[in-house]
Parts: sequence; C-alpha cells; structure tokens
Amino acid sequence: MNLTSLSERILTRVPARFAGSLFGGARRIPRVRRLLESEYAEMLESAPVERPAGNHPTFDRIPENPVDVDEILGTIASLAEVETPDWREGRASGAVYHGGDEHIDFLNQVYALHSQSNPLHIDLWPSGMKFEAEIVAMTASMLGAATTPDEIVGTVTSGGTESIIMAMKAYRDRSGKRRPEMVIPESAHVAFDKAAHYFGYKQIRIPVGDDYRADVDAMARAVGRNTVVVAGSAPGYPHGVIDPIPQLSDMARERRVGFHTDACLGGFLLPWAAQLGYDVPDSDFRLPGVTSMSADTHKYGYAAKGTSVVLYRGRELRHHQYFVAADWPGGLYYSPTMAGSRPGALLATAWAALAATGQTGYLDATRRILETGSYVRQGIEAIEGLRILGDPMWVIAFGSDDANIYEVMARMAQRGWSLSGLHRPPAVHIALTLRHTEPGVAETFLSDLAEAVHEAKATGSRPQTGSAPMYGMAATFPARRAVGDLLRRFIDKLYEVRPGS
Ligand SMILES: Cc1ncc(COP(=O)(O)O)c(C=O)c1O
Repeated sequence: MNLTSLSERILTRVPARFAGSLFGGARRIPRVRRLLESEYAEMLESAPVERPAGNHPTFDRIPENPVDVDEILGTIASLAEVETPDWREGRASGAVYHGGDEHIDFLNQVYALHSQSNPLHIDLWPSGMKFEAEIVAMTASMLGAATTPDEIVGTVTSGGTESIIMAMKAYRDRSGKRRPEMVIPESAHVAFDKAAHYFGYKQIRIPVGDDYRADVDAMARAVGRNTVVVAGSAPGYPHGVIDPIPQLSDMARERRVGFHTDACLGGFLLPWAAQLGYDVPDSDFRLPGVTSMSADTHKYGYAAKGTSVVLYRGRELRHHQYFVAADWPGGLYYSPTMAGSRPGALLATAWAALAATGQTGYLDATRRILETGSYVRQGIEAIEGLRILGDPMWVIAFGSDDANIYEVMARMAQRGWSLSGLHRPPAVHIALTLRHTEPGVAETFLSDLAEAVHEAKATGSRPQTGSAPMYGMAATFPARRAVGDLLRRFIDKLYEVRPGS
C-alpha cells in the first residue's frame, strides 16, 4: 500500500475538519514530505500534461537569429490543423460556442483590422470605447434594462472570472467593511473564491438542495451583519441548473444587500429561451433585487475568446469597480477593470459578433441548442447506469451508481471527447454549443457514451488513465491540502518546456 492510500484510509476515518490539520502536521515532517513528493510525481506521471504531437521547433530562449516567417507560419498552421478537428467536430464540452467557419473568418478579419488597438490610449483609438459602450448597452438591453427606471451600466472584461471578480470588488469597496462576507450557493463558480481570495472576503458557501439549486432559506439564514452580497447562477457551471433567482434576489433586497446573478453561461441564452416560450424564471434586471450580473460574450455571445460583460444597477456601484490614480508621476490614470492595456481588437470582435448575429440569430442559435439539449438529455437518461443531476437544459451533468464516472470520462477521452469532470458528487458534464447541433454530433456522443459506460462497468476498478486518477483522488481524499499540493505541481508541469513538442 502506498502512502496516499494509507493516509486516505486513516484520514477518511477522522472527521474532515481534523483530517486537514492532521495532514498539515504530517506534511511538515521531512520524510513524509519526501514521500508525498514522490507520490505526487507518480500520480502526475499519468496526468494529461499534453503537448502537441509532432516534432515542432521548441525555444527555451529567444532564437539568436530570426526564424523565417514562413517557417513560423507553417508551424503555427500545423499546430492549429491538429487541434481544430476535435472542437470543430463538436467533441468538446463548451470551449468553442459557435465555431462556424464563416463566423470565425469574419471575426478574424475584424481582429486583424484592430490588432494594435488599446483603449487605454483613447486619443489613438476612440473606436475602442465606442465598441465597449455599445457592447455594454446591447447586453444590458438584452438583460432587461428597459424594464426598470434604473440605469443599467457596466464594462467589458476579459472573461467571466474577471466580471465576477470586478463585481465582488465593487461590493466590497462600496461597503467599506474590513471583512465583508459573500453568501453563495455551493455550486457557484470558483471565480467567487478567487474574488474572496483577492479581496479579503469571508466566503459562506451554502449546500444546494437535492435538485442542485441554491437553498434560499439556508442562504437567508447565512446573511449577517457583514454580508455585502448574495449570488446565484443562471445556470451554474457544474450541473447547469438555474438557481431560484427571483426568490434569492428578493431575499437579498429585503436584507438590503447586493445580489449578483452569474449569467456567464446563460446570459446570452436565457432571454432568447424565454422568447421561444421555454419556462425559464427571470434572472436579470427585470427583478428589482438584482443589482449586478455577469454575461459572457465569449461563450454564447459567439465573440472571440477573451471578453465578458459585467453590469450594474446604477453608476454608483460601477464607480467602485473603477481604479483611478490622481498623484502618479506617470500622469492622471484611470482604468475600469483589472488590466491596464486592453486588447481593442477583442472589443471590436465582440461588437461585431453581437451585430452580425442579431436578435434573430440568437433566437435561432438558442432554439437549436435547447432542442439538442433535450435530445441529449433523453439519450443519457436512456443509458442504463447513468443518472442526470438536477433538471438541466443544455449543460448536462451525469453520474453513475454502477460505473466509475471518471473511468467513463477517460474512455470518452480515448474517443476524442473532452468532457468536464466534476466532483462532490462525482460526475461529468457536457455544455452543449452550436457545434453539437450539427448533423450526427449528438447521436455520436450518445453512442460513444453508451459504449464508454459499458466498458467502464466491465472494468470496475479505479481509472488509471488521463485526468481520472487526479479526479479519483480529489473526490475521495479528505485532506484538501493534498489535492491543492497536487494541483500546484500539475500547473508547474504545464510550464515545462518540452523539446520537440
Ligand atoms: C457560470 C459560470 N460563471 C463563471 C465562469 C467563468 O468564466 P471564464 O472561464 O470566462 O472566466 C464560467 C465558466 O465556465 C461559468 O460557467
């Protein structure tokens, strides 16, 4: 028996709160540390730190003489050629949300025209702020701005994580509290943890109900004197279910605290779903208690990767997001988001994507994705041994009582499918995009899944390939610090230069 399984055996017998400190103490003993390091290394041996196949030029220093540009373009093109089929043919969960050739070519043209633009230099590129202001206005209008007398304002950020981080900064700064608290459901995106970490929040995560939705009463009980914001997701990343946003935002309003709807995944889909007649509860500024939202243009907004929108009810809250410096020798400085310089080209592509898709385009895309969602959901339900979590629409999580779900994920990976592993409970999800609405993709997914489940049932044992061992350990190992240690070493491994890769 190795050290990890021995400690796993011991630690699973002690209450979780003691397991952490027991592990923390043991890890300080040099011999235990060395043993742990060798075990982490062994586990990471089989982890998928992938590098491109083929023998590509590798640089661990700037080449002494310039490399021929045609050669560079050849390398980059051949890397793209290998990587493109999996996502283009729909074998990814999320990741590429539109992916149509014409749309990509169009966005690339727009990008190329503005690749040097930086909205920080507003005199040189006034177009950057034009694009940004209009992206914010278009998104706000889609999310109910016209239904309220309040002004809905916002900024563009680099992605969903930054949108959430910025909103949490705004609430913290508005409150002036030294140790503000956020109350969020267990299922809320990990970006809230990042925000808590960066901005000194105490984070209170409340377990979700049996339906994987936020538990409104339990969250209400957790709101206290230091709570500055409550949040819910529409839908949440892990299980794709929509939290009871009307009830949560009312509760937050009654208690006079902010409420953030994380609509990073659903912001560009749910408004159209409602218009199509789907029974989706309101989750946007139609609800008086919603004081901020995040909605990702780079997901179902079909823009190029690297943009999202954070919105606020009123300019005052947005002011707390901004950073301004009046006394810096470098001049009067202002910056709306985390970054200083920002890619104007991404603002141009997001603006272009919204304009080129249009309301009818979003309606049509939503209809196709939701129809594929119900087809895939029924197909998964029909596979013996699989169980759908909650009541999802297009981000569909499933677990299994009969097979090791991470083994299923590994066997899907062998077939080219990049699914997302979840834990607590062990599960896997697929976020359906326009790629999955192409002919035959959903059918192939379901038949591959049925085979993978069949094989996993026959195998029975702990999976040993791909990221499955890490998930296996992460799901069961009681000392979360060990999982953190393992992940840090995993990131280190990603940064290694591999000759010839
Ligand atoms: C619900 C939700 N919120 C936030 C995020 C974070 O977005 P990003 O990866 O763009 O930072 C995601 C990403 O999938 C998400 O699904």
